[in-house]
Amino acid sequence: MAPRCWRWVRSSVWSRTRPPPARSTRAPVFCQWFSSQTTPQICVVGSGPAGFYTAQHLLKHHTRAQVDIYEKQLVPFGLVRFGVAPDHPEVKNVINTFTQTAHSERCAFRGNVAVGRDVMVSELREAYHAVVLSYGAEDHRVLGIPGEELHGVCSARAFVGWYNGLPENQGLTPDLSCDTAVILGQGNVALDVARILLTPPEHLEKTDITEAALGALRQSRVKTVWIVGRRGPLQVAFTIKELREMIQLPGTWPILHPSDFLGLQEQLKEIPRPRKRLTELLLRTATEKLGAEEAARQASASRAWGLRFFRSPQQVLPSADGQRVAGIRLAVTRLEGVGEATRAVPTGEIEDLPCGLVLSSVGYKSRPIDPSVPFDPKLGVIPNTEGRVVDVPGLYCSGWVKTGPTGVIATTMTSSFLTSQALLQDLQAGLLPLGPRPGYTAIQALLSSRGVQPISFSDWEKLDAEEVSRGQGSGKPREKLVDCQEMLRLLGR
Ligand SMILES: Cc1cc2nc3c(=O)[nH]c(=O)nc-3n(C[C@H](O)[C@H](O)[C@H](O)COP(=O)(O)OP(=O)(O)OC[C@H]3O[C@@H](n4cnc5c(N)ncnc54)[C@H](O)[C@@H]3O)c2cc1C
Ligand SMILES: NC(=O)c1ccc[n+]([C@@H]2O[C@H](COP(=O)([O-])OP(=O)(O)OC[C@H]3O[C@@H](n4cnc5c(N)ncnc54)[C@H](OP(=O)(O)O)[C@@H]3O)[C@@H](O)[C@H]2O)c1
Repeated sequence: MAPRCWRWVRSSVWSRTRPPPARSTRAPVFCQWFSSQTTPQICVVGSGPAGFYTAQHLLKHHTRAQVDIYEKQLVPFGLVRFGVAPDHPEVKNVINTFTQTAHSERCAFRGNVAVGRDVMVSELREAYHAVVLSYGAEDHRVLGIPGEELHGVCSARAFVGWYNGLPENQGLTPDLSCDTAVILGQGNVALDVARILLTPPEHLEKTDITEAALGALRQSRVKTVWIVGRRGPLQVAFTIKELREMIQLPGTWPILHPSDFLGLQEQLKEIPRPRKRLTELLLRTATEKLGAEEAARQASASRAWGLRFFRSPQQVLPSADGQRVAGIRLAVTRLEGVGEATRAVPTGEIEDLPCGLVLSSVGYKSRPIDPSVPFDPKLGVIPNTEGRVVDVPGLYCSGWVKTGPTGVIATTMTSSFLTSQALLQDLQAGLLPLGPRPGYTAIQALLSSRGVQPISFSDWEKLDAEEVSRGQGSGKPREKLVDCQEMLRLLGR
């Protein structure tokens, strides 16, 4: 027997003409109809961990779903390629899993397509049964303090993009001719950036850091890096593995002031376990007497890094000619409140810290993608319930644009699986349009009329092979291609 709303079911424009029916009423009949007749056409926007994990879960749990992954860069993998530090190659192994997903005959990668510019979300929603926005957090939070525009100040995001070969950051050329750099913020990105600044360049030679960044780091005169937090040792946002790496960095010495740790020993037993172990390591590093071997290591270290606590950035101080950074003005703070809600409030005391480079590492930020998509500018996320975009049936989100810009790849995976699960539940419940949808066929025609030439996964594999081959001469896993024109030329475009 045909489903109750046969004509409604066959309509491919239900989202414009009819409101979606209430969730609980018609699930079984429509679900059967859909599953035996129609290929769900789903598109994912963004090819970072969220995009690939969402696609993986959809393909695994729906045996006929077709998933197209749109990506604005020419190349896939988001922050796994352009964020994860070059000296953490093991983290990039997830690329193997993503590649398997991309090789599925029901999955297609469509690189070089910026959604919101080359094609609008409304157009994708017309062409597909469901659209998942997984476009990450491409911007950074600004501090909004005077002097942030001075030469010698940049975001950690741009610095990371520079050493990782993100095309848009290749013009950055950070000035590493100074003795002291200051990093604002005490998260894992801050530690990544500090580590790259201080690691002896010969230790980076066999990584996939770009040749240009390696060259600049070889010339670097930065000897001291201060990592500044507005709160205290109990509130640092970095994790123990990354701290340990800093402590063990060759030729480098940590500077921690024992006075910052007064009273912490007594509080240890009340602190939950991961934070407790991190605090113990900080405490030991700050207060333990050095053994002979450690003392010798300290004496021979030519570089240093330190944590400055209870300091909130107020102003970037200009050099005498007003042209560049000469230092940073910090407000001394104290803590108010308890637990996670602890806030830093200024004591009224001010401190100036001389430096020639300021890297602001106070978090990433998502952008709105297109006026048709709701966006919460305060939280920097797409408002959603379990990945369902609020008030927009058929539209979903996953990854950092769903949760905000925190969490490692594993947490992004879990949350992306949940979004995919929600989408599949809606499909089962008959809450998505049920008639056939054209999927990429319709979008391809639009893109072609707009002069956009998408990059396929096999195109990426050609670029990948070229990168690997270029890296071989110098013993690197790859030499990243950083010039989009060159990439297109290599693909014969
Ligand atoms: C510097 C840094 C280092 C990190 N290191 C680690 C680590 O070592 N280990 C770990 O577990 N986690 C690490 N993380 C966290 C991890 O990278 C994130 O959890 C994860 O990348 C978030 O995934 P995502 O897919 O939401 O975002 P992203 O990885 O940013 O992917 C989003 C994708 O969407 C694309 N996109 C954006 N806008 C559009 C558009 N308009 N149209 C089409 N495509 C678009 C982007 O180009 C990008 O490819 C790191 C994060 C940063 C910032
Ligand atoms: N190796 C890894 O696994 C790895 C590497 C890199 C990144 N990541 C992950 O990626 C995510 C993002 O990292 P992130 O370092 O960008 O962000 P984060 O972990 O949120 O850290 C941001 C830091 O900036 C500070 N901050 C924010 N606003 C500030 C302000 N106005 N003034 C002064 N300080 C301010 C925060 O202090 P408050 O706490 O006081 O707000 C915090 O110390 C994290 O989940 C991280 O673990 C993981």
